[in-house]
Amino acid sequence: RTTEPTRISSLPGLVGQQATVSGWVTHTRSSGKVAFVTMRDGTGILQCVVVKPQVSAETWEAFQQLTLECSFSVSGEVKADARAPGGVELGVTELRLIGPSALDYPIQPKEHGVDFLLDNRHFWLRTPRQVAIMRIRNEIEQAIHDFFYERGFLRTDTPILTAAIGERSGLFATEYFDEGNAYLAQTGQLYGEALAAAFGKIYTFGPTFRAEKSKTRRHLTEFWMIEPEVAFNDTHANMDLQEDFVSFLVQRVLERQMPALKELERDVSKLEKVKAPFPRIDYTDAVATLQKKGSAVQWGEDLGAEDEALLVEDYETPIFICNYPKEAKAFYMKENPADPRTVLCDDMLAPEGYGEIIGGSQREDDYDKLLHRIKEEHLPLEAYSWYLDLRKYGTFVHSGFGLGLERTIAWICGTPHIRECIPFPRLMTRLHP
Ligand code: 4AD
Ligand code: MG
Repeated sequence: RTTEPTRISSLPGLVGQQATVSGWVTHTRSSGKVAFVTMRDGTGILQCVVVKPQVSAETWEAFQQLTLECSFSVSGEVKADARAPGGVELGVTELRLIGPSALDYPIQPKEHGVDFLLDNRHFWLRTPRQVAIMRIRNEIEQAIHDFFYERGFLRTDTPILTAAIGERSGLFATEYFDEGNAYLAQTGQLYGEALAAAFGKIYTFGPTFRAEKSKTRRHLTEFWMIEPEVAFNDTHANMDLQEDFVSFLVQRVLERQMPALKELERDVSKLEKVKAPFPRIDYTDAVATLQKKGSAVQWGEDLGAEDEALLVEDYETPIFICNYPKEAKAFYMKENPADPRTVLCDDMLAPEGYGEIIGGSQREDDYDKLLHRIKEEHLPLEAYSWYLDLRKYGTFVHSGFGLGLERTIAWICGTPHIRECIPFPRLMTRLHP
């Protein structure tokens, strides 16, 4: 067995010892006999000091060949230095160039336009801001699994290739042998409902796809969604779960990712206020508030990004907007017994103008009502027969929701556009790299 390479993040524990680390050059500078190289390896930043009279001619020559983003390794003594990033620097005894990098490395230490950066996403990901966002993404993903695991939910995986079922927005189709078209999943929910009847409490965590012709800061064509589905939860219990879940995610990032939040210059005082419970506002009241604020929205319409921003401006936590009109929402939501023009659903809107991060609802558990809604929406009945069966054989009150991962990351990181919140974003006009 070989030993695991030493990473920059472990150097503070090795002060006074010899170490060898490998990484990439972010910066070099030299003043005659003393040279400095800054290395990054994904776990941290290390300042390496090369003193000409103390190293071999080969090492000094190797230093001369270093260019931005070439890969190299260094050996030397780990020394404490309070001013250095990470609190240590390396007194180099040996330096080896591994992979040279041409002088025209695309991402230079200057301002670049977003299109250029997206064209060079494979390199853009190496920069400190992007590394911080991806660390927070990873923390949130882990926290999601921890939250549900601790609460006895079963993680289940639902199909990516589906018959035509799901949400209203655009479908990506692909040929599927003799079965005609298959469609990339827009949601795992309908399968989640079947699984909830088998296992009680489940969640899915998977990629979802929407051929939406929306060029906005919050739409991707491929995004990741977390969809819990719980047997015998009504719409109120569903919202309790959502606010506990989102509070947990935010607190977890605050606890464990402060350096990344700092790198992003996130105002953490705003995140510290995110604690359950969150206000629950009826759609009808929300429309009245919006009209008072000058919005042109009419009762019956779904709320757009601008309306959502107007609603959250009065709050410091996320808020729920509940019980939307039937025609604004998907066919599977349960009719509201108190007002049958509406359905038992909620959207969770993030503060600071980030808008909808969750869509959730209690599901229609009445066979006839569901059948009627499927017909009303002119959906292909054959594709939904198994879904209707769930109401024919042991129907049950159940609820669930979908959290958009990238929108949640964008809000927690304070990045206005979700394209930076996924390693390789898929947008209407972008399939590369
Ligand atoms: O509100 P949506 O469409 O709800 C559903 O898909 C339900 N089946 C969820 C459920 O009840 N199990 O989408 C849920 C969330 C949105 O609130 C948003 O955060 C995110 O998914 N989302 C998108 N994120 C990025 N790009 C897009 N194009 C998105 N569309 C939805
Ligand atoms: Mg929605």
